[in-house]
Amino acid sequence: MNKLEFNYLQTANAYEKLLPLNSKKNNGVFYTDIFLSRQILKSLPISQEAVILDPCCGTGSFLFSASQEGYKNVFGADIDKKSIEISKRYVPEGKFIQIDTLGNPYDKVKNALNLKEVDCVVGNPPYAVLNSQTTINSDEDFLQKINASGNNLFIAALFRAFNLAKIGGLISYIIPKNFLHIDAYSNLRRYILGGKTILEIIDIGQYFKNVRGEQIILTIKNSLPTKEHKIAFRKLILNDFVDMSEITQNFYENEIIHFQSGVEQDIFIKLKKSFCTLADICKGYIGRGKSKSINSIAGKDVRKFGYKKIILPQVGNQIFIQNIYSAEAGIIATFGGNLQASETITVLTDGSEEMCKYLLGVLHSKICNFYIQKFCYNNSKLTMHSDAKYLKKIPLNIKNKRTFNQIVDCVGKLEKTDYLSGGWYDLMDELDNLVYETYGLNLEQKKFIEVAMRERLSSRWYKNGK
Ligand SMILES: C[S@@+](CC[C@H](N)C(=O)[O-])C[C@H]1O[C@@H](n2cnc3c(N)ncnc32)[C@H](O)[C@@H]1O
Repeated sequence: MNKLEFNYLQTANAYEKLLPLNSKKNNGVFYTDIFLSRQILKSLPISQEAVILDPCCGTGSFLFSASQEGYKNVFGADIDKKSIEISKRYVPEGKFIQIDTLGNPYDKVKNALNLKEVDCVVGNPPYAVLNSQTTINSDEDFLQKINASGNNLFIAALFRAFNLAKIGGLISYIIPKNFLHIDAYSNLRRYILGGKTILEIIDIGQYFKNVRGEQIILTIKNSLPTKEHKIAFRKLILNDFVDMSEITQNFYENEIIHFQSGVEQDIFIKLKKSFCTLADICKGYIGRGKSKSINSIAGKDVRKFGYKKIILPQVGNQIFIQNIYSAEAGIIATFGGNLQASETITVLTDGSEEMCKYLLGVLHSKICNFYIQKFCYNNSKLTMHSDAKYLKKIPLNIKNKRTFNQIVDCVGKLEKTDYLSGGWYDLMDELDNLVYETYGLNLEQKKFIEVAMRERLSSRWYKNGK
């Protein structure tokens, strides 16, 4: 790090520390370090003469890096006057103004900066849900558009960026990773999938310490995608953007799964396209427990195929699933009989006791947990919730009567066998093999899942920890 970079970082960090926490949260203020902004700029296919704009530039991390990398035409704007002063001080050749770039129409912002064409919009826009504390001072049409697409400041920033960048120009933004898969953002996601060319999506994990959730870098070309266009999926590993997979953009209709490899995509296609889902089969209640009784079952009372303190009921048609899901433990669920559950349990009510046992078997299998982690939680490492919206997506094959009966039988034995005893682990292996057989995966796919789950599941779920 040279002296200028050191001084810049000191100034930007000191300023960020001064900002009151509440106002930081309401305005989505958290600055990007220059390692990441520089890495992003280096990965973009733009010339040194390109006009680069960060419309929410804060203390100017991206534009400071751009100037260090030799880019000559850098522009920045932010609603916060003091942060703009810092940007100006460290990027004297840049042009900066204080303006509300989310509330004001794009042409007003461009005029204020005397900009004609913008080749590349970069940055880390603010993330915050719009509510009484966080607002955008804009016209009704724009607000409705934001509201229909997830009601968040970063959604507004994306919409503004489509107008700020020239046609065929680039937009490269750090945004929350859940933009790729949660329902609230599906309108804008579909719009991008159909109308813009997604060049790359880089998974950067939970990069910002004080920001909830994980982040991605989404890089879009502001023009229609071709039929053959492939999105490059990459991941930040040890300071490098590492290639993971390339997937044709039109493979996606709505949710964008960040496949780590071609094998992962093959497994997804096989499971998703060949089988029905839990939602197709379970027509009963799937959702949080509602009992307020002190005797109701809580998440902490449940273990895999049983309870910590009470005897397993024999009749009924409920499954109880611990609502907190961790990648290390996988699904923790048991037969619920006719017991009552509190809100820390996800209740699945359906069909017969036999169907409950079958579902319990599938839910505890490695393949099911692989599916949930990779394709429902999009490979997120954070603690998630085993909510209905995820469970409903699980693929099921109940047509194979032989494996159906064998799985029911195996679950019956697991319920009667001492928890975590040698016999219990052997039965878990038997269960896994039966579930693999049900889905007809080949050896390579099975091995892939075993390796992936070995990296995530705690050694507690392996006999003798191996
Ligand atoms: C996540 S910070 C990122 C700043 C900078 N791009 C970076 O990467 O370090 C988001 C910035 O958006 C600014 N901001 C929030 N609302 C804005 C608005 N309506 N118009 C312009 N800037 C805004 C905040 O002041 C803050 O500097």
